[in-house]
Amino acid sequence: MPAEPFCNKTPGANVLRGKKIIIGICGGIAAYKIPQLVRLLKKRGALVRVALTDAGARFVSELALATVSEEPVYRKIFPPVESEGVDYTRHISLGEWADALVIAPATANTLARLSAGLCDDMLAAIFLTLRPSKPVLIFPAMDGQMFLSASVQRNIAALVAQGCSVINPESGELASGQCGVGRMPEPEAILLALEEALHEAMGCSPLYRKRVVVTAGPTREKIDGVRFISNYSSGKMGFAIARAAAKRGALVTLVTGPVHLPTPPGVERMDVESTAEMNAAAEGFFKSCDLFIGAAAVSDYRPATPYEGKMKKDDEQIVLTLVKNPDILAGFGRQKSPSQLAVGFALETRSGLESARKKLADKNLDLIAFNFFDRKTSGFDVDTNILTLIGSDGVITELPQLTKDDAAGKLLDAVEQLCLNRAVNP
Ligand code: C5P
Repeated sequence: MPAEPFCNKTPGANVLRGKKIIIGICGGIAAYKIPQLVRLLKKRGALVRVALTDAGARFVSELALATVSEEPVYRKIFPPVESEGVDYTRHISLGEWADALVIAPATANTLARLSAGLCDDMLAAIFLTLRPSKPVLIFPAMDGQMFLSASVQRNIAALVAQGCSVINPESGELASGQCGVGRMPEPEAILLALEEALHEAMGCSPLYRKRVVVTAGPTREKIDGVRFISNYSSGKMGFAIARAAAKRGALVTLVTGPVHLPTPPGVERMDVESTAEMNAAAEGFFKSCDLFIGAAAVSDYRPATPYEGKMKKDDEQIVLTLVKNPDILAGFGRQKSPSQLAVGFALETRSGLESARKKLADKNLDLIAFNFFDRKTSGFDVDTNILTLIGSDGVITELPQLTKDDAAGKLLDAVEQLCLNRAVNP
């Protein structure tokens, strides 16, 4: 029986580390969830300051927010002079400090104040003084009827027109006891939306949040219960690609044959043994992935009927009948949609640019990496590689000898360029 592939998830690349986030809290019952959001952000390494409206302070304690954020909570533009001294820039310095502003929950009242440009508390002042390039995420939460009212919708439209991201409330049970639209998304969902907005604001990779599947390593084809056909592949190139893609914010699944390598951070890993298992695991992602990278050194043939148990050495000669394995990458190439990209490798022991070009066409790939194999500087089980990238657009990029991590980076640069070209000429 083939071993069941198993999955292993670890946390992804962290765009929040060191980011300065202001959370504006208005007077809605969902405000009680915000200390949890502050904690999640702090755990990811963000610096968090809170601006609380008067109504917000009725729903969540200032002390709780100050404790979890480890910062004073900002409320009024004019603080009591005796307690805080006079700071003439207080109402503008926070807006300048922040990398992003999240307003959650946002009430109908604050949506109206912000869209009108009022400046009657610290949250409004921060909103007005934030740098235009910084993301503003607004999470309205209120009774469904109120949310759908013409006035609220008009204010939301005005805020969206000036560049804010307004995230519609979810449907579900409301504080009023009724069911309908109006619920604030959970803190985890707010965090994800913020991460996405920060990546976008940073001019992030076209691979951000793209679903990428990478096959890696060798496969093993059973001859009998204790022997198999395989190759020298270490999986290093495929793992380097998976690591580099995750760093660029992609959602990466690594389908790997037997290797001795740790799972790159943020990568979902599926361990398989034979080509049939790798094919079955990969096929599960054919429809849903945005990019498929075949870096595995797949066995082209397998013994037709593996011997049950251990074969005896009684005969002077034995004949092993091999049958062809499915070509996983070609399978993906055959069925891919115009928005999906397929990338493969062509490992050759002698000059093989023409053969790589033929594989690019035969397997309907968008990019192929011709991989020279000499077992010292390039190919299987070494830390460096010499690749020549050939795009389906005819662009050829000859890379020097690079570490596999650097080669993976160059390969993904070329993939990103294909994504960008495609966005211009779909
Ligand atoms: O045809 P060739 O085996 O040289 O093609 C190599 C490329 O195709 C690699 O990207 C490899 O991962 C992929 N491949 C595959 N399934 C196979 C054979 C190769 O996905 N059975």
